[in-house]
Amino acid sequence: MKRIVVFASGNGSNAENLIKFFHGRETGSVILVLSNNPRAKVLERCNALKISAFSFNRTAFLDNGDVLNLLKVSRPDLIVLAGFLWKFPERILNAFPNKVINIHPALLPKYGGKGMYGMYVHEAVVKNKETETGITIHYVNEHYDQGTIIFQAKCEVLPEDSAEDVASKIHALEMEHFPKVVESMLMTNG
Ligand code: GAR
Repeated sequence: MKRIVVFASGNGSNAENLIKFFHGRETGSVILVLSNNPRAKVLERCNALKISAFSFNRTAFLDNGDVLNLLKVSRPDLIVLAGFLWKFPERILNAFPNKVINIHPALLPKYGGKGMYGMYVHEAVVKNKETETGITIHYVNEHYDQGTIIFQAKCEVLPEDSAEDVASKIHALEMEHFPKVVESMLMTNG
């Protein structure tokens, strides 16, 4: 059974979807969820789903190696960023080469980079009158949203779509594809 650790900063609908998808499956399991936000809804979701979850501060993440040490003892096969908003430190990336992936709610390289997350992405897509958008699942490297692309899926943006309409189309794509892509990576990756 492959071991998945999820990082999330807020709502956690993707984290919950991953937890439920892998529940009772033999390919993998979400063993731990970590958040930089002690008030994040994802922590409540994990409690209801009986999955261990912890929050951490900048010191533990960036300075004293405590998050890194927790990851090392957790022995993850894959680290999944699902709505995680802090930049991932090189020290952790180097300890888990090719094992950290992220989901982004746009068709990278468009609409990526610092500050481009959640509704900001969809608002920019609508403002620029894009006719399509989508999701990107990619490896994480030391630059925001620039790691190698693993998977993309597209949806239409209609002229009358609001940013909220786009958000719900993206949400549907994420719910459908993210767990399957994670599972296929677990099956091919070492
Ligand atoms: C998701 O749409 C995810 O793609 C996005 O945040 C949302 C989190 O929702 N991630 C980013 O914007 C990263 N730059 P959730 O907390 O309900 O899973």
